[in-house]
Amino acid sequence: MNSENQKNEINRRKFLQNTTLAAAGIYLGILGTPKLFGNVLMDKDAKGIPDVKLNNGLKMPILGFGTYGLSGEVCQKSVVEAISSGYRLIDTAKVYGNEVEVGKAIKQSGIDRKQLFVTSKLWVDDAGYENAKKGFEETLRKLQLDYLDLYLIHRPRGDVKGSWKAMEELYKAGKIKAIGISNFDPAQLADLLSYAQVKPVVNQIETHAYYQQTNDYKVLKQDNIQMQAWAPFAEGRNGLFTNEVLTQIAKKHGKTTAQVSLRWHFQRGIVAIPRSSQKTHILENLNIFDFKLDDNDMKAIEKLDLNRTQFPEWS
Ligand SMILES: NC(=O)c1ccc[n+]([C@@H]2O[C@H](COP(=O)([O-])OP(=O)(O)OC[C@H]3O[C@@H](n4cnc5c(N)ncnc54)[C@H](OP(=O)(O)O)[C@@H]3O)[C@@H](O)[C@H]2O)c1
Repeated sequence: MNSENQKNEINRRKFLQNTTLAAAGIYLGILGTPKLFGNVLMDKDAKGIPDVKLNNGLKMPILGFGTYGLSGEVCQKSVVEAISSGYRLIDTAKVYGNEVEVGKAIKQSGIDRKQLFVTSKLWVDDAGYENAKKGFEETLRKLQLDYLDLYLIHRPRGDVKGSWKAMEELYKAGKIKAIGISNFDPAQLADLLSYAQVKPVVNQIETHAYYQQTNDYKVLKQDNIQMQAWAPFAEGRNGLFTNEVLTQIAKKHGKTTAQVSLRWHFQRGIVAIPRSSQKTHILENLNIFDFKLDDNDMKAIEKLDLNRTQFPEWS
């Protein structure tokens, strides 16, 4: 397909997807909005993916696209597919080694930059005031962007205070629309809050049916910091996609276990960023706004909590 045809095809699919998602948005009105996370407001935009309002006023889509483990052409193709399907939040990180491909995909999609919400993360090797500034510039250059919507400290390692100061300055200079953290536990968050001039907007942590993070959920809600789920499917570990409880709930609603999982995150008011390299899954994971889990479903999923990480190798 030549590049003109490819653009037309993307536009055509974008239109079809937007109409489908707009219809889903109407359903959402009928089915009711999920519980609010803290004081954040839930808005719907034309695409049908609701936004959450972060504590600095910035709007962020409640459902986005993860890119961990995607590289090269597969990464570029998957991100183009995700954007043309209707995703607007793209989550990457320096350590994923795919910022160049994510940047190429953004260009290839032809989408207006202002419509996207791009997140990247400062890796532990770049911790500290000077290094964080350099790390950020490298990220921007690789992504071919002139600002980021969200920049996170990937892990609480090294000179976190220096990193945060650098990020605060970049935020105040308008190079980043919002700054946040990832993998911080409540004690590490409290420490950061003791000196931060700018409060983090987000804490991105491992969250799925097997690790529901109920304590962090309460703490973040109290602090008005948006919780974001990484590995919203636990990468399928421990048989999540074939879990008996999720399968029964999925059958009841005519949905898949992946969709039930994402709907559960949505109804908890948590931003989820599922990753997929398959078009069918990319579309399936967007199609969660036309049904609602009832109290029994929510309680049954609550009981699946093992209250421990499914990624012990990363702890
Ligand atoms: N901050 C951090 O420390 C951190 C850590 C890990 C991840 N993250 C972020 O969070 C994102 C999501 O986490 P993750 O990528 O680790 O795992 P995940 O989204 O929980 O799971 C991804 C896996 O699920 C499969 N999948 C996706 N949709 C599916 C569907 N509808 N049906 C069946 N299988 C499906 C994918 O396979 P297919 O490709 O075959 O669809 C892939 O193997 C990452 O991509 C990254 O952006 C952040």
